[in-house]
Amino acid sequence: MKPGLLLSCALGASATIFYAGVAESGGEFGLWIDGSGQSIGLPGRFGSEYAFANPETVDILVDEHEINLFRVAFVLERMCPIETGLGVLYNETYFDLFKEAIDHITITKNAYAILDPHNYMRYNNPYQQPMSGSIIGDTSDERAATTEQFAEFWGELASRFKDNERVAFGIMNEPHDMPTQLVFDNNQAAVDAIRATGATNLILVPGNNWSGGHSWTQNWGGDLLPNSEFMGNIVDPANNWVLDIHEYLDADYSGTLPGCVNSFEEHMVELTSWLRENGLKAMVTEFGGSDSDECADMLTRALEYMENNPEYIGWTAWAAGPLWGVNSPCCTDRTQLGSLEPGSTAAGGGPGLYDNVWLPVFLPNLPDTLEWEGPIDSHVGSGGNMTRRFVSKR
Ligand SMILES: *[C@@H]1O[C@H](CO)[C@@H](O)[C@H](O)[C@H]1NC(C)=O
Ligand SMILES: *[C@@H]1O[C@H](CO)[C@@H](O)[C@H](O)[C@H]1NC(C)=O
Ligand SMILES: *[C@@H]1O[C@H](CO)[C@@H](O)[C@H](O)[C@H]1NC(C)=O
Repeated sequence: MKPGLLLSCALGASATIFYAGVAESGGEFGLWIDGSGQSIGLPGRFGSEYAFANPETVDILVDEHEINLFRVAFVLERMCPIETGLGVLYNETYFDLFKEAIDHITITKNAYAILDPHNYMRYNNPYQQPMSGSIIGDTSDERAATTEQFAEFWGELASRFKDNERVAFGIMNEPHDMPTQLVFDNNQAAVDAIRATGATNLILVPGNNWSGGHSWTQNWGGDLLPNSEFMGNIVDPANNWVLDIHEYLDADYSGTLPGCVNSFEEHMVELTSWLRENGLKAMVTEFGGSDSDECADMLTRALEYMENNPEYIGWTAWAAGPLWGVNSPCCTDRTQLGSLEPGSTAAGGGPGLYDNVWLPVFLPNLPDTLEWEGPIDSHVGSGGNMTRRFVSKR
């Protein structure tokens, strides 16, 4: 515990965060290349190599900690096996296991879930993600899945979850190193396919360059144009979407270093202005910090920043999950401090990220405005009538 941190909570009336919780990382685990160059992990073994969420720890997080949002990762090559390709043919075993986790969160516990294809806008070789695999929609790569296949995949997933208003669709985790125009085209194709099913569920739209918040308006050279020139142009007939933002506090914004040096409130200013000018909302679905006082202060200010700026309506911290053990999802330079998973400890059994970050930093700063009724919706808190007029094309 770090008692000093408790001073900074309770924002009360100005609060704007309606959905808050954790990323459940684990469905994307167990893919690697072994010493002899053999690719391991497809389809993978459920429970040992990958798993989606532990229902018992989800219960603790909802019943005792009262968080209402879980972002649940899965892998495209397990949902749509490489033999049959990206599209409407699913591995029903993998899908059922994934749906079981989503149903537990949304139906049994009455919380909300974001579906997270954790694929970096790649498909066909997940063994060394985030770098391996063909870029979806890359017409110069004959092995690449097409934008149309990606849309078919999303249409199928949407049709399977459209009757559950507590489910949101995260189009893709962290696209990177590809033309920003293609990120946009894939995003728009996914939105079109989702809405063609009649689904009005919330959609989260990612950006290029790992969806990084601090660099949202930056030009990275060549065809890696700024996200701010594209992603505001998404056309959604149901008008129910937000930007999907990731923002880590370490030196290279990757979440792989223990030091917190890039303050959220300083580095998100341009994104926030762009959101405000364009009347857009965002959720920050990945961020985190290590167990230092410095990180605790910076994380606390990050949470306050989101609460004080109505452009942000939700967040999920990186990360909880059933298979981390003493390994850490972020912010530790390979030191084993465990994860945000309830009960998780550091190597040797001492306190780690759960005891030193989740309990003392995140929990006291949980907004008291979390929503438990109705659909997960980009218009939450706007005071208007949230019923949407969208009528299905079918
Ligand atoms: C589908 O997934 C299950 C569970 O991981 C696995 O046992 C099975 O081999 C997979 N089937 C295909 C065709 O990948
Ligand atoms: C985006 O790209 C720029 C330039 O390469 C880099 O400085 C920045 O940190 C990147 N953002 C993320 C989140 O990786
Ligand atoms: C919201 O709009 C719907 C559809 O037009 C209407 O039936 C409902 O009564 C409205 N609710 C409120 C609180 O205004």
